[in-house]
Amino acid sequence: MTKITAAITAVAGYVPDYILTNEILETFVPTTSEWIESRTGIKERRILKGEGLGTSDMCVPAIELLLKKRGITALDIDLIIVGTVTPDFVFPATSNVICDKIGATNAWGFDLSAGCSGFVFALATGTQFIETGKYKKVIVVGADKMSSLMDYTDRSTCIIFGDGAGAVLLEPNTEGLGVIDSILKVDGSGRKYLHQKAGGSVKPASHETVDAKEHYVFQDGQPVFKRAVVGMAEVSAEIMEKNNLKSDDIAWLVPHQANKRIIDATANRMGLPPEKVMLNIQKYGNTTGGTIPLCLWEYENQMKKGDNIIISTFGAGFTWGSIYLKWAYNS
Ligand code: UT7
Repeated sequence: MTKITAAITAVAGYVPDYILTNEILETFVPTTSEWIESRTGIKERRILKGEGLGTSDMCVPAIELLLKKRGITALDIDLIIVGTVTPDFVFPATSNVICDKIGATNAWGFDLSAGCSGFVFALATGTQFIETGKYKKVIVVGADKMSSLMDYTDRSTCIIFGDGAGAVLLEPNTEGLGVIDSILKVDGSGRKYLHQKAGGSVKPASHETVDAKEHYVFQDGQPVFKRAVVGMAEVSAEIMEKNNLKSDDIAWLVPHQANKRIIDATANRMGLPPEKVMLNIQKYGNTTGGTIPLCLWEYENQMKKGDNIIISTFGAGFTWGSIYLKWAYNS
């Protein structure tokens, strides 16, 4: 029997209009544009403004564009998986809200929480559903409204993060294209370096937790940086070795966009020149779940059918991993 693989057959994204530049951040916190750009590669990021708007409000336009590009409707969708750490609500899942807003009445779905690795873990999960043969159209979304967790008086975090959403459509393929392999990892002992201190069941939100700013992202940047450099580089090298891939065999690296220096270290370890590395950190900062699908969206026209692509990520948790896929279409 021919093996069914899960191929990405369309990609789309959405970023909010408002641009928060490094220069504007200089007016909030003691920093300089030069410091931010040289330490992270970020020049600006997008922020979702507007009362009552959440992560789903970025996912919906991304998915609507995705459906339009593929020429299908929301009724054709079987499953929607959303990789996010900023769900609209603790419950119900953002996926439910999206299904309602787009009219995907034949779909079910769930959110997946894996820090910045949310999209990669969701892509690997969506792949399993397609490979069973039972699911024909699965949407995988990576999206975060990081501004909802940001303390804009904390210069070590507010300079990094931005808001955005990206989505891909997975469909069955019998030509050997699509997701070929994945390596996914977690190390919960790293949770203390990057987390939200309050708002969960251990420490529910209260006046005290809000006064102590514990509803914001806490990050101890240096240890996260060190583990990210090693984790992303090693898992990328591991998936290459496992699949007998040399640097020349790889058309594109799609790295999580947390810090340009982490991306450079990963590309170096893989022996890839900068022109094979997708980059949007300068424009969008770290959109957490959004970085990788937003890169795919932006570079879609440059990828060719059969291209070997390595996706690589590292995030809070710690979570990290890599996916090897063969691009399935020419646009
Ligand atoms: O996506 C999820 C995973 N997250 C990541 O991968 C993020 C990983 N971490 C990082 O990218 C980096 O650690 C940061 C960008 C967060 C910080 O850069 P760094 O080079 O690691 O700086 P640092 O934390 O070691 O701080 C160096 C100095 C400190 O001053 P002193 O103690 O040397 O006087 C900081 O107070 O830089 C200072 N600093 C700043 N100065 C100007 C920290 N943030 C800023 C700032 N502007 N925004």
